[in-house]
Amino acid sequence: MTDMLCDLNQTTQPIRELKTFNNWDVVPKGWYAAYKSKDLKTKKPITKKICGHQVVLFRTESGEAKCLDAFCPHMGMNLAKEGKVIGEDIRCFFHHWKFNGDGDCTDIPCVHGKSTSSMVKRAKTMAYPVEEKYGYVWVFSDPVATHPVFEIPELEGQEVMFTHLEPFNRVAHPHITMMNSIDEQHMRTVHKLSVKLNVEHWTKGKRFFIGFNGPVLTDTFIGKCHKFFFGDSYRSSVLFEDGNLGLLTTGIDIKFLNRWKIPTGYFIFSHTFIEKGKNQVIPIIVTPRRKGITGFLFSWAYLRLNKICMKYLAHQDGKIIYGNLRFRQDGLLPGIDGPTAKWISFVNKEIEPSIWSKSLLRKKTDKDEPLQKIESNFNEVTSQDH
Ligand code: FES
Ligand SMILES: [Fe+2]
Repeated sequence: MTDMLCDLNQTTQPIRELKTFNNWDVVPKGWYAAYKSKDLKTKKPITKKICGHQVVLFRTESGEAKCLDAFCPHMGMNLAKEGKVIGEDIRCFFHHWKFNGDGDCTDIPCVHGKSTSSMVKRAKTMAYPVEEKYGYVWVFSDPVATHPVFEIPELEGQEVMFTHLEPFNRVAHPHITMMNSIDEQHMRTVHKLSVKLNVEHWTKGKRFFIGFNGPVLTDTFIGKCHKFFFGDSYRSSVLFEDGNLGLLTTGIDIKFLNRWKIPTGYFIFSHTFIEKGKNQVIPIIVTPRRKGITGFLFSWAYLRLNKICMKYLAHQDGKIIYGNLRFRQDGLLPGIDGPTAKWISFVNKEIEPSIWSKSLLRKKTDKDEPLQKIESNFNEVTSQDH
């Protein structure tokens, strides 16, 4: 049980499927880090699966990144496969229909005459909002974005510097991997940080916040080190947005050796499941760009240091837990598992399914009507020919 979701023991340890939480058929409306900006080259469209939905990403000749449903609305060719970017449009390899970044068909070259414009109108495909931030092309999972890509509240309007950790996969739903950062018990058991924490909590729209603070206990080696270098209190927070993105804030108000204030660490985790059982996590480390060349070098070095720490922390969880976890909510404890329970309720209540959600599929009835119309038109033409 290391690289597949486990659905065993349903008779004795049943898992209740929830409306949204840990439900692979629901794709939250939100922004997904889809591709590195520098790797999306003009004239080189790429195709990507985001939350089980196949899209094409391309950069137009004016430099804008665009995202459409991958399959051509004509006969379904994947637009990225040998598709060509011409000006602001992408051209399908198969019959050379062209589409702009809004999904409008702009040309059907093999058809001429009066009816062409109505055909062009009908051939519209689905387009998705795109933004470029933190070195990534982000795609919104619905036709209209309800807000911009996440910005760290404390750094709003400031110039920032960032770096990435290599994306990694987890055999767990994004809601489960996100939950890990608010699981107080595992901080003591897995990360050996012995703390007695007070919890602060609020929600606002699609945002969910948990703040932890309290004294560090010195009954573990890590606890002793923490006390020696960073003092005897601990404070961190987690802010989730849209059920698919998390901000971990560490080092809040602490001094190194009780003298020098340490910069706060900001770690964004974008969670995108590729398909059921495969969640891709993209960690982005952010810090303000400090003034002058010394400030720049400080920010640069600080990002690298954080990168090393984060690599270490991520692997403490990743290797053992997710490949061996069949999550169930029925065993949660009141009190200490309170933040986890709140997170589950919040997701089920507030997070909206996007147009990509399989849960929205309705039973198809009588959907062959347009096809019948096309068939009859074809018969009319052939009967006139003979
Ligand atoms: S399948 Fe794309 S133009 Fe025909
Ligand atoms: Fe952890």
